[in-house]
Amino acid sequence: MRTPAILVIHGPNLNLLGTREPAHYGKSSLEDINQNLQNVAKQHQIMLETFQSNSEADIVNKIQSLVNNKVDYILINPAAFTHTSVAIRDALSAVNTPFIEVHLSNVHAREHFRHHSYFSDIAIGVICGLGAEGYLAALRFAIQQINQKQ
Ligand code: DQA
Repeated sequence: MRTPAILVIHGPNLNLLGTREPAHYGKSSLEDINQNLQNVAKQHQIMLETFQSNSEADIVNKIQSLVNNKVDYILINPAAFTHTSVAIRDALSAVNTPFIEVHLSNVHAREHFRHHSYFSDIAIGVICGLGAEGYLAALRFAIQQINQKQ
């Protein structure tokens, strides 16, 4: 039996976490978030890969690469692409891997243009407004689902 695998995708500008609009996104850096995710994954013997890109094409290509390199679950914060990207949505549908949509901020309490997501209706679930904790909650749920399947 192969080791279960989870891919975490962080969209544009999330490389600036820690310094970027901390009132919305908190003080944790992306490295902190990734390290906390790695720690939990390790405890559960899960392979966890993290990927950040500011480029829509790179994110689409990364998702497409899962055709030959399957993972059990995806956690994705598409960031601004949440509200714009049919291409990333279509890539996720194409690989047909269950995913959880995560946002640090409560997008529904912000500008109107952030209320619509191209991902939520095809996601297993959506977490928003819990800051960095949201990623950990999503990871715990994904691990639970993977373990139930095995
Ligand atoms: C975000 C919310 C998006 O609206 C925004 O464009 C981001 C981050 C969040 O995590 O709260 O870049 O996805």
